[in-house]
Amino acid sequence: MLLTIADILDEKKLANIRKILESAKFVDGKLSAGSFARRLKNNQEMEQQSQQAQYLDQLVVGSLAENAIFRNAALPLKVSQPFFARYNDGMSYGDHIDDPIMGTGGERYRTDVSVTVFLSEPSEYDGGELVINTTFGQQQIKLPAGHAVMYPSSSLHHVAKVTRGNRLVSVLWIQSMVREPAKREILFELNQARESLMKRHPDNPETAQVDHTYVNLVRLWSEV
Ligand code: NI
Repeated sequence: MLLTIADILDEKKLANIRKILESAKFVDGKLSAGSFARRLKNNQEMEQQSQQAQYLDQLVVGSLAENAIFRNAALPLKVSQPFFARYNDGMSYGDHIDDPIMGTGGERYRTDVSVTVFLSEPSEYDGGELVINTTFGQQQIKLPAGHAVMYPSSSLHHVAKVTRGNRLVSVLWIQSMVREPAKREILFELNQARESLMKRHPDNPETAQVDHTYVNLVRLWSEV
């Protein structure tokens, strides 16, 4: 399931992040890429070890965690440290699938869901679409600043070449409690029905049945 989520970051948080990124040190994105991706990856990433990075991480991960759509769609078990990437004029990232396991030492996690939070307005750059292969064809994603897209990490995707301006994004990965994308999609839709029934018909026995079914499916399909 490919899902876009509006307003993950409000204007104040976005302005705060953009201000910090203006003076942050960026390094060649190839440094964090595997041997295959290194040939395809042409971007810059903010150095991850700085104090600024920790503050930015909290802002982005905290904002995602507060978002009910994100929580219900991703069913997160582990959330990675975000990367802050910049694509200047001429930069791109060729077709690839994200690494299956990321992190180091005890902090390793499986990548089930990939998330991109857009930090630049579409008017600030040309090109730079995130192009994702789905079962319904290629989707080109270019969202307003502060909005996010999430998609299965197993999807083939690329970032089209930027031909004007700068594209700033934050990217991160989720290990979900529910590994399979099809099961997460079923749970997401069933939960939408459940929440709607709880509002409209809180006392109907069918509402309770749908609630119990959702809860028991989460139990059946989760690994924690
Ligand atoms: Ni990727």
